[in-house]
Amino acid sequence: MHTYTADVERMARELADFCLSRLAEQAPLDHPCSPAELDRAAGPTVTPGGIGADAALRLWRDVLGPACVSVDHRRYLSFIPSAPTKASAAFDMLVGATSVYSGSWLEGSGAVYAENQALRWLADLAGLPPQSGGAFVQGGTIGNLSALVAAREAALHTRGRPDRWAVCITEEAHSSVKHALKVVMDVDIVEVPGDERGRLVGSTLRQVVDGLPAEVRAGVFAVVATAGTTNLGIVDDIAGVAEVTRAEGWWLHVDGAYGGAALAAPSVRDRFAGVEHADSFIVDPHKWLFAPFDSCALIYRDPALGRAAHTQHASYLDPVNIAGEWNPSDFAIQLTRRARGLPFWFSLAVHGTDAYTEAIERTLEVTRQGADLIRGADHLRLLVEPELSVLVFERVGWDVDDYARWSTRLLDEQVGFVTPSKHAGKVCTRFAIISPLTTADDLALIIDSMR
Ligand SMILES: Cc1ncc(COP(=O)(O)O)c(C=O)c1O
Repeated sequence: MHTYTADVERMARELADFCLSRLAEQAPLDHPCSPAELDRAAGPTVTPGGIGADAALRLWRDVLGPACVSVDHRRYLSFIPSAPTKASAAFDMLVGATSVYSGSWLEGSGAVYAENQALRWLADLAGLPPQSGGAFVQGGTIGNLSALVAAREAALHTRGRPDRWAVCITEEAHSSVKHALKVVMDVDIVEVPGDERGRLVGSTLRQVVDGLPAEVRAGVFAVVATAGTTNLGIVDDIAGVAEVTRAEGWWLHVDGAYGGAALAAPSVRDRFAGVEHADSFIVDPHKWLFAPFDSCALIYRDPALGRAAHTQHASYLDPVNIAGEWNPSDFAIQLTRRARGLPFWFSLAVHGTDAYTEAIERTLEVTRQGADLIRGADHLRLLVEPELSVLVFERVGWDVDDYARWSTRLLDEQVGFVTPSKHAGKVCTRFAIISPLTTADDLALIIDSMR
């Protein structure tokens, strides 16, 4: 298995050819299959003797791959899509083929050096200080959790342990934030009502905080602001929130997993005012920064606080725990680490940051065109004025079942992947546009399918 033979070479070339054709041509949307369908088409694949490279690759090409929806399709507009550049996707093959270990500087200095340049670009876009930094982690979920753990650890050292820890968020904060707090960290949530668009605003935060019982307020250590909510694409009033966190000595975490990419877009940059005050900030390159899964940039204003929370200690780790060395494993809940930021770095290095600005601006422009199409369609109603690249709208007269039937038909007919959502308790749907390949015509096609 570990020897490079003629058969291995043939297998590797076939895989490389397969990858190249996937890079060259837009794959169909494809669709999920039931376990029974996959049992029938694939059956047991892990056997004592192995099924051989030809059979395994054939199974992937003909059965298993097509049972995965193509997230990078330009009419995949559900959840938050992904749209890797060709350079980033191609470089991901190299990362896999070369076994780069990038948990520590000792083992992965070149990879970490390159990743840190990509982090620097993001930190500079956010206006964070030159000493800020962090690491690439698996995704926004781990980024949010790692940042909040670091925040609590910092509070523990400065203020000691209260009866119960608490963090202020709004309803629109991402599910991963709520899960991290409630389930993983056992921290209480102080829910701050959003404004009419669901934004966390400084004045309401101040009111809620002033009304908290003293024992609850004593346990608050952080506030999470979202820079681009998942469902609505709304940016919280980060500057107003920062005023409160600074006055109270609390940690400000800014979750820009989806929307943080738009820091690179001059047309909407002002929406992020105040992000420069963040104590920690995340953005997922695998969302709107055109990198493959999975990659989240986690940046601390003061990386020493990340280290204090996350550095693991053991005699066998002494050789990597060298003061001053930049070990990505020190900044998050991770030790062994794929160089998750390298495909993003490569593409940034190849194309330059201006190309990113242009591509993000293009998606924003298509979103504006899509908003006009919805406004002009009698059968639709735009529910929220778009701030970034999410359009939330309803089909007048439809109920949950109508949306479900339409969404299934769209995928069955391979037209698009657009799922129902809810806003203000009402069923609706949304377009999340992050691929520069998505056009206004693509949106018009889907809008027409709702007549
Ligand atoms: C605002 C926000 N935060 C966090 C996450 C979680 O990120 P991930 O899916 O990469 O774990 C998402 C995912 O869509 C998100 O939109």
